[in-house]
Amino acid sequence: MTSENSAKRILVLNGPNLNLLGQREPEHYGADTLETINQRLQAKAAAVPVSLECFQSNSEAELVTKLQSLFQQPVAFIIINPAAFTHTSVALRDALAAVKTPFVEVHLSNVHAREAFRHHSYFSDLAIGVICGLGAAGYEYALDFAVHHINSN
Ligand code: DQA
Repeated sequence: MTSENSAKRILVLNGPNLNLLGQREPEHYGADTLETINQRLQAKAAAVPVSLECFQSNSEAELVTKLQSLFQQPVAFIIINPAAFTHTSVALRDALAAVKTPFVEVHLSNVHAREAFRHHSYFSDLAIGVICGLGAAGYEYALDFAVHHINSN
């Protein structure tokens, strides 16, 4: 794929247990399902227009492989909620550093107001920015920023 074709492609990556949104600890993560969140993102993307791919996996290996695939099929921007891998995964961090695609890190909950082990992220220092604690709307704000970033770079 040429860099021209990749110019308006955005990848939304979600990590483990986010497939359970809607039924998983709604006091932390809200009532929306991941499908609903992705549908809203797709509608927003279509209106721009930009092309948006949403990918969720419970597997660290699959997420790393997905990031490595960007060498063959680059995207202009990544929105990532690494979920629990935020606090554990050097492998995912290394994959993001390798592909060098600009990204925003999103968390539904305010991780800094929760357990101490959630306060450290392996991603935040590489991210352009971090959105946390704003619920599902955080993904939409990240998409707004991604479009702005793509158009101004
Ligand atoms: C999360 C926060 C993480 O600490 C947690 O492990 C998740 C979701 C969030 O979106 O608030 O699975 O990334």
